[in-house]
Formats: sequence, structure tokens, C-alpha cells
Amino acid sequence: MEKFLLFVIAASALLGISSFAECAFYFVYDQKTWTEAQSYCEEKFNGLAPINNMEDVEILNNHGNLSKMLALDGNNLAWIGLRKDMSIFVWSDIEFYEDDNTMFRNWKSGEPNNFHGIESCVIMRDDGLWNDYPCDSTLNSVCYERVSGSTVNFVFIDQKMNFTEAQTFCREQYTDLVSITTSSDNEKIKQLLPPGSPAWIGLFRGYWELLNGSKSTFMYWSEWQPDTEKNCSAANFQNSGKWEYSNCDTRMSFICNTPVLKQVVRVKLARSSSLDLNDPAVLEDLLKKLKQKLKDQGVSEDFSLSWRKQPDGKIFYKEEEEAMKTTS
Ligand SMILES: *[C@@H]1O[C@H](CO)[C@@H](O)[C@H](O)[C@H]1NC(C)=O
Ligand SMILES: *[C@@H]1O[C@H](CO)[C@@H](O)[C@H](O)[C@H]1NC(C)=O
Ligand SMILES: *[C@@H]1O[C@H](CO)[C@@H](O)[C@H](O)[C@H]1NC(C)=O
Repeated sequence: MEKFLLFVIAASALLGISSFAECAFYFVYDQKTWTEAQSYCEEKFNGLAPINNMEDVEILNNHGNLSKMLALDGNNLAWIGLRKDMSIFVWSDIEFYEDDNTMFRNWKSGEPNNFHGIESCVIMRDDGLWNDYPCDSTLNSVCYERVSGSTVNFVFIDQKMNFTEAQTFCREQYTDLVSITTSSDNEKIKQLLPPGSPAWIGLFRGYWELLNGSKSTFMYWSEWQPDTEKNCSAANFQNSGKWEYSNCDTRMSFICNTPVLKQVVRVKLARSSSLDLNDPAVLEDLLKKLKQKLKDQGVSEDFSLSWRKQPDGKIFYKEEEEAMKTTS
């Protein structure tokens, strides 16, 4: 009996398979602060979930496991991927909500200066100029009421309230705190202010944007209020997934962004003399054949394949395999 050692030359490579997941979001039922949640999602997925439209909201409402959330911390809140940019002012009335600092502004010179870092709301002084101011100060305010079409009434409120209270008051009694977009409106409002009596207008710091820095045009707030203390946002699934401000240090469930599911598999080619595995056209052709094969085997349409380059830039590696052959 003789034994021969056979060397089979084969080549192996890593193949990446990306499939577009049915649900673009992944709930994590684990209690983390906003920052911890974001790092976790960043590492494992694509960051915290950006909620960009009503479809996203519906997906979340259908996928969130409320009883799991409730069991963890007694509420139905989960962190989402929005952040607040305190350098940008926005109007209280969502209709004028803008990230565009080129809009009409009438700052007093040297303002806004965010003095002591606590000036997140805005007042109009009796000379018509604006100043950023601490939101917890109690002042008079100017509400406005939409009458019909573009016709609005400006209403001076001679009652000392902090910004939040003034905003709530204006929303309940009129339309909202006043938004000022032209100098003639600014002049009209100035005329309403008694000498020495500054008043809240509807401008404040805190523009919400997606984590990639894109403007978020979709808003789904359960309450619309500036809150200098709470800088993070969470979806509340007891309230149709509407967003709420929350303290970033609170621990709660969270939702990661998973636009694609990725999988890496090792493929092995038995020796095939004629193929040059360094030729991009050959590699491309192999991908096409593999894709067809997967489809033939019933894998759904939604996936893409790509070769993984090794750190040295190579795709295929030669492997030598030992095989025993026994003859008698
Ligand atoms: C405004 O006053 C209300 C009621 O006193 C309080 O709950 C709220 O925190 C205050 N808001 C600000 C911004 O100070
Ligand atoms: C940021 O993310 C949103 C939501 O996923 C997406 O629609 C937008 O195109 C992204 N913007 C950039 C600059 O990548
Ligand atoms: C919220 O942001 C403001 C401005 O950046 C900062 O002064 C404040 O400490 C932050 N609050 C929390 C709770 O992170």
C-alpha cells in the first residue's frame, strides 16, 4: 500500500453580501444614555436612527415592542438620531421654523452673545432691537394671531411669564409667540411695547438636525418647546412614536439605523487554470455568476455582492491543501 500526498491548489477570497433589510431600524432593549446608545449604534450599525418621514414613523410604530420597553424602565421612550444645534435660532411657530440665519434678524449690535452660556431665548427691546436672553426670566410677551390667509394680528401680553409659559399662553389664546420676518412687522411690534418693557418674541436656540448634519425637514414633536436643559430627543411609543425632549443622561431603549445588513463569506475556487484572478473583468464576471447562482437558489432580489480587499490590496489568496490518496 502506498500513500501519495496530493497538493490541490485553490484560491480563496472574502465576499461581502449586502441585503437591504426589510426594516431599516433596529430596536435595542437595553438601557443606555443617548451618548452610549449612539456609540453602540455607530459601532454595530449606522448610528442612531434618523427619522425622516411618516413612513419611518409607521415602521417604528409597527416594530417597537412596547411591553419590552415598559418592562425595562416603565416607559415607552427610545432614543432616536436627532441632535440639537444651539448655535442656530428657530421660530416657535413651526411654519417659520428655519435653519437659515440669513432670514430677517434685528439684533442689537454685539448680540446675540449667549452671555454666561444661558441665553437661549430672544426678547425685543422697546427700541425694536433683539437680544438673546435667559429663558427663565419673567417678562411680557408678544403673541400673534393668524386671522385669515397672511393677515395676522400682533398682541402685546402685559403679564410676566418665562419663555415657556409665554409660548404656551400664546398657543392657547392665539396662534403662537410672534414670528417676525420683515422690518415693517418689526416696527409694528415695537410700537406695541411700552417704554422700558422688553418682551419675548418667538425666537430661540435649538435647531434639530440629523446626525449626519442634514437638515431635518420632518418634525414629529409631541410638544414643541425650547428646553435649555434637555438636549436629546426620544420617540414616545405611548404617543404614536412622537418625539419628546429628554435629558441626555436618562437611560432608555434606543433605535439604531440599519439601512443594510452585511455579511461576509469566504469563497473558495478550486483550481481553474485559465482564470486570472487579478483581472478585474474576471472578478466582475465571477460576481455576476455568483449573484445568478444565489438568485437561482431563491435568494430575494435585494442584495448586492462585492469582493473584500485584504489589507495588502489582494482579493484572492492561493491555498495549498493536503489531501491523502491511498492506493493499493
Ligand atoms: C417656566 O415656569 C414653569 C412653571 O413655573 C417651569 O416649570 C418651567 O421650567 C419654566 N421654564 C423655564 C424655561 O424657566
Ligand atoms: C442624512 O441622513 C438622511 C436620513 O437617512 C438622508 O436622507 C440624507 O441624505 C443624509 N445626508 C447626507 C448628507 O448624507
Ligand atoms: C445642553 O446644551 C447646552 C448648550 O450646548 C449646554 O450648556 C447644556 O449643559 C446641555 N445640557 C445637557 C443636559 O447636556
